[in-house]
This record gives sequence, C-alpha cells and structure tokens, in this order.
Amino acid sequence: MTSLPLSLPSLALTLVFVACILVDLRRRRRQRLPPGPRPLPIIGNVHQMPKEMPWVVFSSWAKTYGDLMYMDFMGQPAIIVSDRTAAIELMEKRSMNYSDRPVLEMAKLAGFHQTMALEHYNDNWKIQRRLISPDYSPVKVRKYWPLQEKVTRLFVRNIIEDVSALRDNLRLQLGVIILRVTYGYSPQTPEDKFLVGGFTALDNFAKVATPGMWLVDVLPILKYLPSWLPGTSFLKTAQDWGKHLEDTVRSPYNWAIENIPTGLSLQPNLVSDVINRHNGKPLNGADENALVWAAGTMLGGALETNISVTLTFLMYMILNPEVQRKGQAELDSVVGHDRLPSISDRADLPYIRGIITETLRRGPPVPLCTPHAAHEDDVYRGYAIPKGAWIMANIWHMYNDPEQFPDPEVFSPERYNGDDVEMEKVKGLAFGFGRRTCPGKHFTEALFYSIVATILATCDVLPGLDVNGKEVLPKVEYEAGSITQPKPFPLRIKPRSPQAAALLTDVSPAIE
Ligand code: HEM
Repeated sequence: MTSLPLSLPSLALTLVFVACILVDLRRRRRQRLPPGPRPLPIIGNVHQMPKEMPWVVFSSWAKTYGDLMYMDFMGQPAIIVSDRTAAIELMEKRSMNYSDRPVLEMAKLAGFHQTMALEHYNDNWKIQRRLISPDYSPVKVRKYWPLQEKVTRLFVRNIIEDVSALRDNLRLQLGVIILRVTYGYSPQTPEDKFLVGGFTALDNFAKVATPGMWLVDVLPILKYLPSWLPGTSFLKTAQDWGKHLEDTVRSPYNWAIENIPTGLSLQPNLVSDVINRHNGKPLNGADENALVWAAGTMLGGALETNISVTLTFLMYMILNPEVQRKGQAELDSVVGHDRLPSISDRADLPYIRGIITETLRRGPPVPLCTPHAAHEDDVYRGYAIPKGAWIMANIWHMYNDPEQFPDPEVFSPERYNGDDVEMEKVKGLAFGFGRRTCPGKHFTEALFYSIVATILATCDVLPGLDVNGKEVLPKVEYEAGSITQPKPFPLRIKPRSPQAAALLTDVSPAIE
C-alpha cells in the first residue's frame, strides 16, 4: 500500500478547512435559522445565487422553504422575506433594528456607500434624508406638477413621431424633469454630460447593489490584494467607477451653486430650496457633503425606476387592449376631448389608478427591494436572525401570491374595484419599507400618473409588426439587475384622433 506524502502547507490548509466546517456546523446547531437551500461547506449558497431574475428563482424556492428563507454567502447570512406581513413586521414595526444597509464591499470600493440609498443607518444618512424630505412631501411635490405635465406631453408627442427612439426619449425627458427639479438644470440632448453621467453611474450602481454578485462581497479580504495580481481587475473597475461617481454627483451640484446668482439655475429646485432654508448661506462641510450625495441619489433614484414602470405599462397595454379601451373611456368621460388630462384629474379616475397599481404589481422596478440589514441579533417567528444579516424582501413574490391576488399573472385593474385603501397597500410595497421607504414616492406617483393618463388620452398603444407586417406580441421578460426593466419589445403608438395630436402639438417645448 502506498501512502501519499502530506506537505506541511497542505496539512495546515486541510486543518483550517475542517475547523471552518466545524465552526459552521456549531453555529447552525446553536441557532434555529430559517430553512433554506442546502449550503456547501465554507461557500454556503454562493454557487446557488441566481444571476438572472433572482426574484423569480427565490419565489419558486419560497414554495419549498416558506416565507423566511435562509441563505449563506461564505458566512454572510441573508434572509429572503417572501411574505408582506413579515416584511412589514421586520422593517417597519422593528425598524430600529432593520433600517441599516448591508456592507457591500464592491459598492464601498466604488464609493456608492456615500449615496443615501446605500449609506448605513447613521447620522450622515439622517442628514441626507432631513435635507431632501421637505421638498418631497405630498403637498410640496405639487409645485412640480406643471413641469411633470409639460414634459410628459413633450415625451408623448415625440414618441408619436418616432417610437423607435422610445427609450432615448424616455431617458431624455425623465432626465429633463429630474435634473431640473434637483439642480435647476435643463439638458437639451440625450448626450448631455450630466445626463449621460447619471445613467452610467446608475448602471454601475445596479451592478454593485445586488448582494452576492461580487466575490469580494462574500470574501472581503480580497480587497487587500495588490491590484497587479491576476484576477483583481475588480479593484481597477471599482477605482474607475468611484472617480466617475464623484464627478457625477459633484459637477451638477457645482453648476447649481454657481448658477443660483447668475439666474441660469431654474427655480425652484432642491439645491436652491435647501440653501434658501439655510437663509441663502452656503452649508457647512458635513451638511454640504450630505446635500451633494443626497441630490445625486435623488437623480439616480428617479431615472431607471421610471423608465421601468413606463415600459411595463406600455407592454401590458399591448397585451391587454380591453384594459386600454376602458382606461380611454374613463378619460374621455371625465376629461373630454378638448383638453389634455392634468394631474389634478387623478382623483376622478379610479380605473386609471387601478392601471397604475397593476403596472407596479406586475413589474415592480426594484423586485427584491434594496436590501436592508439587521443591526443586532433578533428572533422572529421562532427563527434567529443574526446581526448583520441581509434582509431581502421579495416584492415580486408578494405581488404574485395567488391568495392575495387570484390569477396573479392577469393584469386586472378591476381587482381593486376602485378601492384606494386596497390600491395603496399594493402600491406601497413597490416603494420599500419603514425608514428607508423611497423618498421620491409622491413625486413619482404624480409623474407616472401623468405619463399613463396622457398616453391613454391621446394614443393607441399597439403591437409592433414583423417583416411580413404581422403583429408581434411582447414577451414578459425582464433584464437582470437590482433595478430591472422589460427587455426590448416592438410597439406602435398611433394618435387616437387628429384632435388629440393637435393638443400635443400646441405644447411649448420651453422648460421653465
Ligand atoms: C416608480 C418609481 C420608483 C420606485 C418603484 C422606487 C422604489 C424604491 C425602493 C424599493 C427603494 C428602497 C426602499 C427600501 O430600502 O426599503 C427606493 C429607495 C430610494 N428611492 Fe425610489 N423608487 C422610485 C422612484 C424614485 C424617485 C422619483 C426618486 C427621487 C426623486 C427616488 C429616490 C429614492 C432614494 C433616494 C432612495 C434611497 C432611500 C434610502 O435608502 O433612504 N425614487 N426606491
């Protein structure tokens, strides 16, 4: 019999390996963690982290493991919450413990931890929220309604002219609104540097904000490797993204500050309002830094999310022509044909509010919410939730629960029967939980309402045509990423009447 020689380093490695397994086993036995897919020693569930639409994969696993599912990413605990009540009990009723964000190493290396969205639950985050909150209350956002209505009308006019540029147009017009509202700046073309910078930073954000996507997130020690070592290109990527991010948040802010006195910065806007509340004086260092990052995050928060809901709305209108007809009939009877719908009509349009609610339910732009993190150890429904655990709310699963929503895959505004309390409960989920709830919710609801009502009042949304002129229905498929949107689909947009088109032609393109 031959014996294999065991060198000292490989013996040490084997011992470390065995020790890790034992520590891991002991920890599991001590705590009664929620059930979840079987982990491997050391790496846990890393190999099972889905790359495409994880919310759909987690949803199918929830059928086996239940409302609270435990996953382990190389020792990093994660709880996938698939039940609305549990999400609310944890992140709203126990918000003291669940308002933190995970340490996402790649995001941190690239500077994204300074954004309001990924900042820990600390003083800097509180200052950021305090600075922006007064401008985004349900009452205060009304001052932006005329701007939202105008830009929506310009957007609809443009897509009637050329629907092939739909996504470019959406980017430009949403960029116009949010840069105008945040900095008083109005971009003129889709190539505008502040706009392109915002979208690029957002692409990078989406790549770093999904837990478990980067090895360094689960093996933080990797960040100390020298950048010349093969396999460490993530360090250079993080450095490049970090430089870009700094420039993206600072340049429009500096432009806004320089142009308050010149009058070029259009009023009102977030940065000016904060300075005005400060008696027109510059903010001190920490507050100014917080405003730079808060404003930059508001810009980022608004862009891809609104593109996502608009595309989802168009997709479901093609797939549900009878819903489209009913929405149009409601608008015709309430608004008539002599004017365009305004945001103040919203209260009289329950079916349109149902369409909006169903759009969010069928296509939540942030299907796994932005992950929260447990500040301290906790016990919930008899299960241990370890300190530092990522809390990932599977909003998509909650929206597809057949007990709550019979035939969940059917797009049916009728299911709410005009009941606003019910609709609010449903819509609310799409904007997250507790202290981290989306601060742009009221602003964006008015904007999205304006998009839906203007399109339906003036246009028919129709399937695209293939080379033989045959109609092609969209497939309900979403891109990967923490903020997702439908994959490209063909469509046609036709004005409902010459009168409707004329109402849009009359809109002046000047942004004030
Ligand atoms: C349809 C549109 C939108 C949806 C579905 C949406 C959804 C969300 C969700 C799910 C979160 C995470 C909440 C949580 O962690 O519990 C969030 C956070 C955030 N959203 Fe939105 N959002 C939208 C539009 C906007 C707009 C228009 C703005 C800005 C004007 C905005 C700014 C933000 C910011 C700054 C955060 C981070 C908040 C924090 O961590 O404290 N969002 N949003």
